[in-house]
Amino acid sequence: MAQAKHKFVCQKCGYTTPRGLGKCPSCQAWNSFTEETEIVSTSPLHRVISHQSNTPEIIAHVTATDVERQFTGMPEFDRVLGGGIVPGSVILIGGDPGIGKSTLLLQASDALSCKYGNVLYVSGEESVNQTKIRSNRLGVNSDTLYVLCENNLELIEKQIEKLQPQAVVIDSIQSVYLTDFQSAPGSITQIRECAAQLLICAKKQNIPIFLVGHVTKEGNLAGPRVLEHIVDTVLYFEGERHHIYRVLRATKNRFGSTNELGIFEMQNKGLVDVKNPSQLFLSDREENISGSVVVSSMEGTRPLLLEVQALVVPTHFGTPRNTATGIDRNRVALLIAVLNKRVGLDIGDSDAFVNITGGIRIDEPGIDLGVLMAIISNHQNKPIDPRTVIIGEVGLGGEIRPVPHIERRINEAAKLGFSRAVFPDYNQKSIDVKGTIELISVKNIYDSLKILV
Ligand code: TYD
Ligand code: MG
Repeated sequence: MAQAKHKFVCQKCGYTTPRGLGKCPSCQAWNSFTEETEIVSTSPLHRVISHQSNTPEIIAHVTATDVERQFTGMPEFDRVLGGGIVPGSVILIGGDPGIGKSTLLLQASDALSCKYGNVLYVSGEESVNQTKIRSNRLGVNSDTLYVLCENNLELIEKQIEKLQPQAVVIDSIQSVYLTDFQSAPGSITQIRECAAQLLICAKKQNIPIFLVGHVTKEGNLAGPRVLEHIVDTVLYFEGERHHIYRVLRATKNRFGSTNELGIFEMQNKGLVDVKNPSQLFLSDREENISGSVVVSSMEGTRPLLLEVQALVVPTHFGTPRNTATGIDRNRVALLIAVLNKRVGLDIGDSDAFVNITGGIRIDEPGIDLGVLMAIISNHQNKPIDPRTVIIGEVGLGGEIRPVPHIERRINEAAKLGFSRAVFPDYNQKSIDVKGTIELISVKNIYDSLKILV
């Protein structure tokens, strides 16, 4: 789509001509022309990058204005966005088919339109009728929420200009196309160019645009991550299909932290914010069974209490396996290796299964000690006191390493009525705990074993 244009520019005065001249007609200078090549492109991508020429500014002299954020009316959604939506930003929401992306955005559009005025929901995949059926189910009935069934992005943009909405949803980016480009909707070129075009539109109108993106089998957003560079915010909507919990997680956010999690429950009338996730995740817990422990993990600024379950059984066939749900399998293998070397407990001839209940995935090392204790507890068939919460990272030497935000983790447990917290000795200095919870600090795995199993 790009064309190269040749031109001759006078280096003294900037006079431009299509042919080289000996003498400049403007400043009368001799031999001052040099040839330059200009790339003229119809691609929105190039327009994003070069639509204006800026000059460098001293950062100390730049005055930044605080942006006023919009709120979706779904506190968990706003939390992941970094405390609300920044106008002019483009937010990509990815996730497996059927996880609830359209549901989430239809609910958010409804709330936004009630608060701020016109919102345009562009459905490129479902008919207006289908969207209406969904909105009936969700109780979405705003007078200012518009639905548009269209795939041509130029026409969508015309409608945006006409309607002047306060927010736009494009469901999905794979279903729209620009006629300038020959390739089919959903191809990398179309996805990239359409996203760039929408970025220009968002900045020009100063409105947020949400893009729904499908995830490929490999787990990437379709169009090998090209979109992730273009947009301001990338959110993933995930969860086990057969669980009712859904987690919204930011992997990129130009306007906030990427640590925050938003937790929702999928009910038959749509998604509902989970206000007290710790309580919920522990609510259907069986007490006094071996291999079950409660850990306190930090997700962004919020502590989450979760149950870790482990099952260690002799391998009957072939090589032993580790299976982990909600936690990295390699981390489990590492913990089993530490157990073998430092405690002398060899479970090399057994299959180990570790599960974080509730369908949540945790990447944080602060749950190491809990996972380790769950494995030992099940292996020894000795239940761990159900009112104890276990916190700590395990080092390769068997030492228990400190974790950040220890106070918040322990206070969350105290709030939910836990009577004991086992935590790293290195964290001792920085603890000021409210409520009555017994504090037991441990230096290494041996200390922990003595206390817990
Ligand atoms: P959907 O939003 O269509 O998913 P996506 O856009 O990510 O493909 O969600 C579809 C699933 O959600 C579907 O399996 C039914 C379920 N669902 C509910 O459980 N409750 C509801 O109120 C709605 C609208 C959907
Ligand atoms: Mg959908």
